Amino acid sequence: MQVGIDMGTLSGGQSAKLDIEELLATRLLVQGNSGSGKSHLLRRLLEQSAPWVQQVIIDPEGDFVTLADKFGHVVVDGERTEAELAGIANRIRQHRVSCVLTLEGLDIEQQMRAAAAFLNGMFDADREYWYPVLVVVDEAQMFAPSVGGEVTEDARKASLGAMTNLMCRGRKRGLAGVIATQRLAKLAKNVAAEASNFLMGRTFLDIDMARAADLLGMDRRQAEMFRDLQRGNFVALGPALSRRPLPIVIGPVETSARSSSPKLMPLPDAPQDVEDLIFTPDPEEFTRPAVRRTPPAPRPTTDILAELSRSTPAAIAPTSEPPSRSSQPELTPEEREEKITAVLTEILDDPQSAYRTDAVLYQDFLVRARMRRIPGTPMALSEFRRQIAITRSGVDVEMAASENWQKALELSRSVSDDLQGVFLLLVKAALAEEPCPSDARIARAYGTHSARRARRLLGYFEEKELVVVHADFSGKRIVAFPELDAKTAPGDADAPDGDVSLAAE
Ligand SMILES: Nc1ncnc2c1ncn2[C@@H]1O[C@H](COP(=O)(O)OP(=O)(O)OP(=O)(O)O)[C@@H](O)[C@H]1O
Ligand SMILES: [Mg+2]
Repeated sequence: MQVGIDMGTLSGGQSAKLDIEELLATRLLVQGNSGSGKSHLLRRLLEQSAPWVQQVIIDPEGDFVTLADKFGHVVVDGERTEAELAGIANRIRQHRVSCVLTLEGLDIEQQMRAAAAFLNGMFDADREYWYPVLVVVDEAQMFAPSVGGEVTEDARKASLGAMTNLMCRGRKRGLAGVIATQRLAKLAKNVAAEASNFLMGRTFLDIDMARAADLLGMDRRQAEMFRDLQRGNFVALGPALSRRPLPIVIGPVETSARSSSPKLMPLPDAPQDVEDLIFTPDPEEFTRPAVRRTPPAPRPTTDILAELSRSTPAAIAPTSEPPSRSSQPELTPEEREEKITAVLTEILDDPQSAYRTDAVLYQDFLVRARMRRIPGTPMALSEFRRQIAITRSGVDVEMAASENWQKALELSRSVSDDLQGVFLLLVKAALAEEPCPSDARIARAYGTHSARRARRLLGYFEEKELVVVHADFSGKRIVAFPELDAKTAPGDADAPDGDVSLAAE
């Protein structure tokens, strides 16, 4: 039986068909950057094919549970033991019931383990239950990552193994994988390679475009067309779709995603008693369970060492101040902040400061702060490092207030203190779309004269998947930040450091 389900429209207005039976044998890979419309596409595919084929959805965000009302999918909460999940998966095959495995609320490692247990449970079903099932995995790069991440090796192996089974060995057992990913380069190659059908949406990074071109057997210039695709527009290719790359616009869906893009909404009229509303706790709050908090990060050893080796800091701690000082005028927090910034600027204005260690600068900072009579310890070494990294990155007021810069600061927390300066320098260049800083400039931000070291740092960021470094046609370097959807303009890696005060040295 051939069933062509309707995915949307072609550029001529005809309907874009997907041959569901062919799909069962040849699997599908969907890729596109965040917001390109992958989840919407999966939903369209699921809704249209629901009457024809059993479906299982591995759903990291719990987005697809809304299929339950209209199409009768059973919702399986992933927060169970692995044995329970395997048992449920087995019965799902036995009774041929469609289901959504929602992994919302689990941490990434638990999500991987739960998905692995469920997929393996389906894979291990008895031969008599090998009926065809569409197995849809959204955010597949989470479950089949191309490199190890923060999760334990165990969890990664289990999840990757289950995904490999699904895509490579599932067909005989009736399992047809349909996987979606934001970043092709982050998806394990063997998992991606088993799909013969592709729907490619907007793709921002060259490295993903190159992977897409390789998979589709296109030349790389042809793959450039993925860059400018609109939301909901995909290029289809494969035996179940089209023999040539075919642009299609995905049609509407009947059920809604639980999460959707944020929309601006007018604010409600301010009530009269707004202060009361905010400052008076609701009695119920006291009976609610405490909010889960992440434990505070351990204090870096460098902080403690600096504290121990300091000769003067105790004198500026408020508790050990001589009584006569207590008559000192109280500073408002803003005044204090202002003074601290002034001291920081003073230190950084010295061109030699780039080549002094942070510990030496911090000493200098504490002494100057004391001379300015700034009460209390102005800040810990780690915070000091962060502050100078921010100041040195050259971020201006407007960018500093932007949401992207806040995201960048968040991201910068994943590199150690001593690398913050370099990281923020690069982020700032990317957000401002300035040319990529040269090796010499990066070296200075790291407090060294060695260009080789600068390149090693870039390599390190790349290994940690924070950046993607590549070159344009003329060999100029571009550093892209996938998480921020930003990249620097091409810059000459060998250019001299443009800093005049240093050139004069
Ligand atoms: N073809 C379409 N028609 C109408 N709206 C769409 C279409 N495709 C996507 N959208 C809307 O665009 C928004 C983003 O789409 P979607 O959530 O599918 O993106 P995504 O690629 O899955 O992103 P992410 O990778 O961040 O999950 C959603 O609000 C969705 O409803
Ligand atoms: Mg999505």
